Amino acid sequence: MSNKPINVGLVGGGKGAFIVNPHQKAIHFDGTRRVTAGALFPDPKIALEEAANWPYPIKGYGSYTEMIEANASLPEDQKLSYLVIVTPNHVHFDPAMKAINAGIPVFCEKPLCLNLKEANALVKAVRKHNIPFGVAHTYLGHWTSRFARYIIRAGLLGEVRWVDSYYLQGWLATKLEATGQMQATWRTNPKLAGGSGCGGDIGTHALMQLRYVTGLDVTQVSAQLETFVEGRMLDDHFTIYCQLSNGGKALVRASQICIGHKNDLGIEISGTKGTLVWRQEEPESITIHLANQPDRVYWRGAVTPGDGFLPKNVPADLMAEPTIPPGHPEAFHDAYARLHRCFEADVRKWQAGKSFACDGSKYASVEDGWMGIAFIETCVKSSAKRGSWTALPKRI
Ligand SMILES: NC(=O)c1ccc[n+]([C@@H]2O[C@H](COP(=O)([O-])OP(=O)(O)OC[C@H]3O[C@@H](n4cnc5c(N)ncnc54)[C@H](O)[C@@H]3O)[C@@H](O)[C@H]2O)c1
Repeated sequence: MSNKPINVGLVGGGKGAFIVNPHQKAIHFDGTRRVTAGALFPDPKIALEEAANWPYPIKGYGSYTEMIEANASLPEDQKLSYLVIVTPNHVHFDPAMKAINAGIPVFCEKPLCLNLKEANALVKAVRKHNIPFGVAHTYLGHWTSRFARYIIRAGLLGEVRWVDSYYLQGWLATKLEATGQMQATWRTNPKLAGGSGCGGDIGTHALMQLRYVTGLDVTQVSAQLETFVEGRMLDDHFTIYCQLSNGGKALVRASQICIGHKNDLGIEISGTKGTLVWRQEEPESITIHLANQPDRVYWRGAVTPGDGFLPKNVPADLMAEPTIPPGHPEAFHDAYARLHRCFEADVRKWQAGKSFACDGSKYASVEDGWMGIAFIETCVKSSAKRGSWTALPKRI
């Protein structure tokens, strides 16, 4: 396999944008990927200016359409190996679809798109073109998320009975959108964000964490979407009671009005043998509670298979994944880097004509993105019927 760095193009990211920053750091994390191009802003003139002012040289384009079309005629060493879409939700579908049709793999921010019609089309296009596609559910990239997934899916805590998966924030406790603050403005506008504000923005992370770690699906919901800030167009508080595919129950909840909570995403999973607790604001450890035993705290990189709880055969690739020794903390940027590293591996396999995974085990797949949108649409319907139990559509 070539050791030349692969080229990444950005869709969005100019003029004080937020999530492009962790992405571009994560892209450069290993030296095997680099940002070489960008369509950074909707206005072509500003897009070119922003590219010219980028902290290192990149090729600027006036629009993502231009960037995708230009790619076909670029010399081989300048071609884009994948696109990263970091625009507001209403500008996910079109660039993703254009890139897929042009044969460029896509790593897209969540939520996948605006609605199920778009999500259906994206899943079909990815399958038709058999092309790598990932969705940026950041928190799957923590080593401890991978470890929690192993513990639950290996049945070490027995059958899952109850999950509390949550994401609490306080930054929208006042009507921030009225000040014109960029991130608040589009997140509270249904045309730009989708059918749910808080649910689409952070509830989808809580859902994805539940599905990734447990391997279970949500089959029915009883949803309450509430808006506490007067005059806001979308929910800022999202509380969903869920039926799980194994017969267990879960709460998937999110809020943006809980003052004091910053990015308080966490999950508690109670099985017939014990409970697992993990919080992303302290992502280096997970706690295991077993009945009538002292609590166990497992730190990333300091795990001993065969210790009386973990079996001897913890998968070697899981044990090998940490990048630095325990006690030197990994965090948000490392999680993003792990996702890009795994996506790069699939892109390189695809480029070499080999089979590749995109199966949701290392980063969220297009089907996971579809599930997020199906969940949101079902929650909106259930909430409109005062929380009556409503079934999710069948997996695509
Ligand atoms: N995974 C995570 O943890 C996480 C965190 C934050 C945001 N996000 C997601 O990332 C996306 C972006 O969020 P953000 O907070 O960075 O938004 P932002 O408002 O800070 O940035 C959006 C950027 O997209 C640009 N843009 C808009 N339309 C464009 C177009 N047509 N062409 C080119 N650029 C265009 C804007 O100019 C801006 O640079 C959203 O979908 C959001 O849900 C994910």
